[in-house]
Amino acid sequence: MAFIITVAQQKGGAGKTTLAANLAAAWSGQLRVALLDIDPQRSLSRWYGLRTKAAKAHGAVHLSEVAGWRLAAELDRLRKSHDIVIIDSPPQIATDAKLAIRGADLVLVPMQPSMPDLWAAEGTLALALEEKRPVRVMLNRAAASGSLRAKVEAALAASGAACLASSLGNRVGFANAFALGLGVSETAPKSLAAQELAAVVAEIETIRERA
Ligand SMILES: Nc1ncnc2c1ncn2[C@@H]1O[C@H](COP(=O)(O)OP(=O)(O)OP(=O)(O)O)[C@@H](O)[C@H]1O
Ligand SMILES: [Mg+2]
Repeated sequence: MAFIITVAQQKGGAGKTTLAANLAAAWSGQLRVALLDIDPQRSLSRWYGLRTKAAKAHGAVHLSEVAGWRLAAELDRLRKSHDIVIIDSPPQIATDAKLAIRGADLVLVPMQPSMPDLWAAEGTLALALEEKRPVRVMLNRAAASGSLRAKVEAALAASGAACLASSLGNRVGFANAFALGLGVSETAPKSLAAQELAAVVAEIETIRERA
């Protein structure tokens, strides 16, 4: 049975699709990875389209684009046939996003360390809590340290939201890899971006092993 990761955050541009694509690329070739794109913007589906032609892809991933009444059944189907299912959700909590959070073994909330992003995430975090789903915030485009990051981390801790210890910096490599249908582990495996992503992957692996 697959481990289902739903990437959710109401704030647009927080890094949901980038994170979903890079996690899928990192696990491809080792695990049976399925992506489920429930965002009408279809960014992840378009990344997948590029990937099917990318020579440097380490492994195949499956993509489903399903919305509405077919979503629950599709999730059940993917759960049975894959090791990891990663759901990329739109920047609002509508019915589909609620279903995706309800079905998740882990809700991942990418968040740039700023107060508007923190406030925008409150609804997603509250929903995950209400649905009793394990949730982790992942700081994205984050400086390694600094007073703003500390402030955001303190506010998250005060609200009871758990944060991954690892985070991703602001690195152009993510956009470059995305444009090729790849992840940073494939385009630039020795880069800082790839090292940071590997730390995020390792943390998620630990959560998955304990689940
Ligand atoms: N760690 C990062 N470093 C640099 N650029 C990043 C990083 N993460 C995301 N980006 C860039 O930020 C922009 C938004 O990212 P992305 O599309 O992944 O966000 P999103 O949360 O999926 O957006 P939406 O809410 O519209 O679906 C993209 O141009 C992407 O390349
Ligand atoms: Mg997106």
